[in-house]
Amino acid sequence: MNEQLSIENEKKWLNNYVDAFFRTDDDFYNQNILLKHKHSLQVCKHITNLAISLNLSDHQIKLAGFIGLYHDIGRFKQYRDYNTFSDKDSVYHGDLGIEELRAIHKLENFTPKAQNIIIASIHNHGLPKIEENLDEQTMMFAKMIRDGDKMDIYRIVDEYYQAMLKGKRNISLELGLKNTDNISEKVLDAFYNERIVYKSDMQYLNDFKILQIAWIYDLNFTYTRRYILHSGHIENIIKSITMTDIHDTIRKKALNYLK
Ligand SMILES: [Fe+2]
Repeated sequence: MNEQLSIENEKKWLNNYVDAFFRTDDDFYNQNILLKHKHSLQVCKHITNLAISLNLSDHQIKLAGFIGLYHDIGRFKQYRDYNTFSDKDSVYHGDLGIEELRAIHKLENFTPKAQNIIIASIHNHGLPKIEENLDEQTMMFAKMIRDGDKMDIYRIVDEYYQAMLKGKRNISLELGLKNTDNISEKVLDAFYNERIVYKSDMQYLNDFKILQIAWIYDLNFTYTRRYILHSGHIENIIKSITMTDIHDTIRKKALNYLK
């Protein structure tokens, strides 16, 4: 790793990078760019704290922070060029990000070994499941970015469902799902059986909420499970499910799993 490279300087760099994406007279578009910028900074903070909790070396803590900052770098071009955050309707933003980091010569600041860790972590962060063929060290970083990412996504979706209650909508975050009082049997079944939910099985916004709650089954570290449990986000997401009769069962299942 280039020893001159600091997290603080890279935050400034990201700030300038993101600035180039804003449009004049398009508040809605700019709001989504801002959302991903804030997310990158928050994930950088979470993954750094996670790395510290794991007693990693200063070098590894710093590398984790860079992965947090860079992990969603593909989101900006994805949104600008395809006007969506849906990978299914555009391209996989993880790989788009890797392509972008190469194009802007970001990776050259890192040793070949660190480059491989960054690439594998970004590639794996948004896949339904982590690849199995990674070496031990790369696997650890790939698991860390997936956890760090979820810690902040829970904040974003919680804030969004609260805003929805006040009538504010952002269709980019709803993936075109129907906001009706329904829930898919297949989705609920996966959740109760401690399996992650597949996006292809979703039909309703309630399904998406269950999919998000089921991410708890895909957390890799005790630190993250504790963070999520104490954040209150899971309880808030459950409250936003429009079928109130299932709130208690879902809450019990989720909280017991996290404890
Ligand atoms: Fe992402």
